[in-house]
Amino acid sequence: MPNAHPIAPATGKLGVLTPGMGAVATTLYAGVMAARNGHAAPIGSLTQMGHIRLGKRTDANSPLIRDFVPLAGLDDLEFGGWDPYTDDAYAAAMKAGVLRPEHLEAVGEDLRLITPMPAVFSPRWVSRLEGVDNVASGLSHLEAVEKLVEDIERFRLTRGVDRLVMVWTGSTEAYRTPTTVHTTLADFERGLAANDPEIAPSQLYAYAALTSGVPFANGAPNNTVDLPAIVELAEREGIPIAGKDFKTGQTLMKTIIAPGLKARALGVKGWYSTNILGNRDGEVLDDPENFRSKEVSKLGVLEQILQPELYPELYGDLYHLVRINYYPPRGDDKEGWDNIDIFGWLGYPMQIKVDFLCKDSILAAPLALDLALFMDLAARAGKRGVQEWLSFYFKSPQTAPGLYPENDIFIQQKKLKNTLRHWMGQELITHLGNEYYEG
Ligand SMILES: NC(=O)c1ccc[n+]([C@@H]2O[C@H](COP(=O)([O-])OP(=O)(O)OC[C@H]3O[C@@H](n4cnc5c(N)ncnc54)[C@H](O)[C@@H]3O)[C@@H](O)[C@H]2O)c1
Repeated sequence: MPNAHPIAPATGKLGVLTPGMGAVATTLYAGVMAARNGHAAPIGSLTQMGHIRLGKRTDANSPLIRDFVPLAGLDDLEFGGWDPYTDDAYAAAMKAGVLRPEHLEAVGEDLRLITPMPAVFSPRWVSRLEGVDNVASGLSHLEAVEKLVEDIERFRLTRGVDRLVMVWTGSTEAYRTPTTVHTTLADFERGLAANDPEIAPSQLYAYAALTSGVPFANGAPNNTVDLPAIVELAEREGIPIAGKDFKTGQTLMKTIIAPGLKARALGVKGWYSTNILGNRDGEVLDDPENFRSKEVSKLGVLEQILQPELYPELYGDLYHLVRINYYPPRGDDKEGWDNIDIFGWLGYPMQIKVDFLCKDSILAAPLALDLALFMDLAARAGKRGVQEWLSFYFKSPQTAPGLYPENDIFIQQKKLKNTLRHWMGQELITHLGNEYYEG
């Protein structure tokens, strides 16, 4: 049996800080509170509901993941956040309209206690948010970082938490190509001092988190921790980072279906994806600059999974298009249509239609929970920098420079589970299975 990695125990409380207290964050808080009270099961969360096989199939040993690795328990989580609106988590959840009032009322007392800290926010990076009333305004970049560090320390002290993680659940920021200010940590720190306009608010949160010893996961598609300067900072501070963009809805479906078509060597000629969405996220994404961030993160997935350079006859001519349309009547109930033009034996065409009537934040909240728990585990295991084994959760997984990301959900799942086995000193599962046939 291989040696287990030393992992510090999950003693005391874990603070989960979310820049952004909108639909995803409040659904996360409320769901964890409901699970704690025994009102609901944490469905969709691998850390809470998933099992992991250990040893041979004949050993019949598949514990729950949360019993296998030393994760923080749901009872030990303390939530906090920032938002440019003053609504407490109960009011914000009511506005988001994801959970029904009777579900929110059941945990209303606890939700009302979570009030947002004033946000480091700029309408240059997130347009379409009207009437914001909880913004720490007039601060230079350095003052903003200082304020966030103070917020983190105050939360640590007043809530008596032993460890913290930060998960970005804020709006999608405008798409910008990284510039020289993002190249090295020294460039970034010079940019902070000079108030460089290319430094986004999410990057200030990430900088504040990492310099405070807090792991950072990015649930949105903006460039935040996937920048050389921030990777360098995470390495220097010895803190884990992961990103980006929660893999829910249509992209989840894409990364389930595409590996199956490829496994059967079926060709794909076209993949047309469109969505209607009526929540605040949809409103923000209605702005072309914000949508560009999302489009970039959504488009890369198929290209990587199908590998047209290896399979030119099957995927060389693939036409892939993604659209999101803001349509208020639907609220958080997104509808995602996919038309997939495939071809088979002798090139005969076929079509697949997917109509996924999903609830965006119902799918995203358990991912935010798992990321918080796994990032904390990684920190206690002494892991630093990019946590590629968490690709499973992201539309646009962050990797080491020069390495293409793995988007196939089945490869991502194997990687995640084998990482846990490896850390816990268990044999990796290769699915070779020779031992069942050879004496
Ligand atoms: N719901 C999903 O399935 C899903 C999937 C993938 C990614 N995401 C991403 O997760 C993020 C959150 O989604 P949501 O549905 O909760 O959106 P939301 O609009 O309901 O919530 C985002 C919140 O972030 C706040 N915010 C904006 N800028 C901020 C800042 N600088 N500091 C602190 N708060 C800030 C907004 O006021 C808002 O309340 C979005 O970026 C979205 O694209 C969501």
